[in-house]
Amino acid sequence: KPIVLSGAQPSGQLTIGNYLGALRQWDRMQDNNDCLYCIVDLHAITVRQDPVALRSASLDSLALYLACGIDPDRSSVFMQSHVPEHSQLNWILNCYTQFGELSRMTQFKDKSERHSHNVNAGLFTYPVLMAADILVYNAHQVPVGHDQKQHLELARDIASRFNALHSDVFTIPEPYIPGVAARVMSLQEPTKKMSKSDENPWNFVGLLEDPKMISKKFKKAMTDSEDPPRVAYDQENKAGVANLLSILSGVTGKSIEHLVAEYEGKMYGHLKGDVADAVIALLEPVQAKFHEIRQDQALMDQVLKQGAAQARARAAVTLEKVYQAVGFVLPT
Ligand code: TYM
Repeated sequence: KPIVLSGAQPSGQLTIGNYLGALRQWDRMQDNNDCLYCIVDLHAITVRQDPVALRSASLDSLALYLACGIDPDRSSVFMQSHVPEHSQLNWILNCYTQFGELSRMTQFKDKSERHSHNVNAGLFTYPVLMAADILVYNAHQVPVGHDQKQHLELARDIASRFNALHSDVFTIPEPYIPGVAARVMSLQEPTKKMSKSDENPWNFVGLLEDPKMISKKFKKAMTDSEDPPRVAYDQENKAGVANLLSILSGVTGKSIEHLVAEYEGKMYGHLKGDVADAVIALLEPVQAKFHEIRQDQALMDQVLKQGAAQARARAAVTLEKVYQAVGFVLPT
């Protein structure tokens, strides 16, 4: 079976962007693949986190993965920090990654502007750790949203470079990006990506939010002042409406064209109300399952223990091949 690896940062509450762009694919891919899903806590600390909040968000993420359908009997679910091989491979791959390549990463440029008081080395080498996450399992497919495409390309370049210099140790991973809602946009500023760490809560919808709040957020979503209002899919000139259509298409499975025809002549308020209802209906069972799992510490401990053991056994095999390839004396 093809190997699949992905992860999300516990740097806030997972959003409908994370769900539509990634988690939903993670769930579906379990049927035909050998999947590993981690909570990338090491990545989260590239931005300052409150320790208490980080620990709680990490456990929330775990419970949400399971509530969204990730099945620990079929997939390995674990904390990135529980598998030290990620960090060990990260160091080695750092030595196979160029300063220039990392300087060109758009996410680094964005984040170093937004967090200009803390442009730490981890923020800069973030994509190398991500490459290590993927390559340490020889993953074939990496289900991610559109924003991770550049990082995936770098992971492919690092792997190819290493293989060319040494031997074919690494599998070259492919990104797996959904056809619709791969880039869910902010509700108030629909020209930028919806982000769980946004300081303005009106910009995103968290998977654990109260239905009333979800309705309010969609009602308040930015659209445009075209007169008369026209529901059309035009990302450039009607970014807000296009985003609502993408979300509705992602949630209901109806095509954008179908939706545009359905909303012909209708007001934006109508579309907003329907998007909110569809999202609330999608999240209702997820939230119920989440609350059940989140209270069951024994279950969460068991999943993490099993997931880390499975992941470590596999990662150790690759790491030994890498040690061998670079010329380290293997420990006896
Ligand atoms: P993160 O935590 O930002 O997001 C987790 C996943 O959700 C996707 N995503 C979105 N998709 C659609 N619309 C959005 N607005 C949106 N926001 C986020 C992301 O593309 C991602 O798939 N660097 C990664 C975490 C990571 C990783 C990995 C992923 C670390 N190691 C190895 C894959 C493989 C990140 O920050 O994701």
